[in-house]
Amino acid sequence: MSTALKPASQATGTSIAITGGKGGVGKSNLTVNLAVALGRWGRRVLLVDGDLGLANLDVLLGLVPKRNVEDLVRGEATLEELLIDGPDGVRILPAASGVPDLSRLDQMARSRLLGALSDTASLADDVLIDTGAGLGEATLALQLAASRVLIVTTPEPTSMVDAYATLKVLWTADASKPVDVVVNAADNEETGRWAYEQISRAAEHFLGQVPGWLGPVVRDEKVGEAVRRQQALLELFPGSQAGRCYRQIAMQLTAGTDRAAESSDDFWRRLMDPSNKELSH
Ligand SMILES: Nc1ncnc2c1ncn2[C@@H]1O[C@H](COP(=O)(O)OP(=O)(O)O)[C@@H](O)[C@H]1O
Ligand SMILES: [Mg+2]
Repeated sequence: MSTALKPASQATGTSIAITGGKGGVGKSNLTVNLAVALGRWGRRVLLVDGDLGLANLDVLLGLVPKRNVEDLVRGEATLEELLIDGPDGVRILPAASGVPDLSRLDQMARSRLLGALSDTASLADDVLIDTGAGLGEATLALQLAASRVLIVTTPEPTSMVDAYATLKVLWTADASKPVDVVVNAADNEETGRWAYEQISRAAEHFLGQVPGWLGPVVRDEKVGEAVRRQQALLELFPGSQAGRCYRQIAMQLTAGTDRAAESSDDFWRRLMDPSNKELSH
């Protein structure tokens, strides 16, 4: 019986934080491939590397950023100069590793950054943020600023416990945040669903609500091969099993976005809002 199964959230906005309690669960590969899938469907996608410890979306895509957010804040680069072009029209904002320093920015720098980032609203239908692992404040700030959150886990108990912990911290901060689960590196659909239901049951019991189910990404050696070749899996092996899963998830993400109630600049506004307490440490 699957009382704790809930369909994926209906989209309420354009910014999606991809997160998970543990490193190495497949967040960055999911982020990159969702971006490519959406880009291929003609959507304008902005990929934000928010993995503070291990920023590496550029590496996954074989790209070399020349500038970073610091240059923008100092007024030495425009947003356009910062963004790098990836596959399928996807644009990447590298090294949002500047994020934890946002709280230390003076008013001038803060408004310069916010102004520039708000401009991304005009160039993106979807903003995908790879938040990196952990329960740190900067990661939580990104989750809270996003209009919806994807929690990635594998079917391993350690990863599932971390995914639940992530969910708990997030819903403690904002119980209304739409959250969906992706189970990566599952042997098959059933295993993925089983892992989701474990997390979902715990959430139902202890948190009083359940996250949505976005589906599995099956374990597929092609993922590792794409990483080694520094190209998105969907570029290299679009017909692979994992590729099909990524597309399936991307498809669900677009459901209902015509009714999007906000534009992507709302993400930046919330992130930069001084009342976003996670940034004021
Ligand atoms: N579905 C999958 N099947 C097989 N290997 C995977 C899969 N997803 C991820 N991996 C492997 O795990 C590694 C870590 O993935 P990554 O997306 O960088 O994780 P994270 O961003 O969560 O740290 C990848 O380099 C790849 O080798
Ligand atoms: Mg990563």
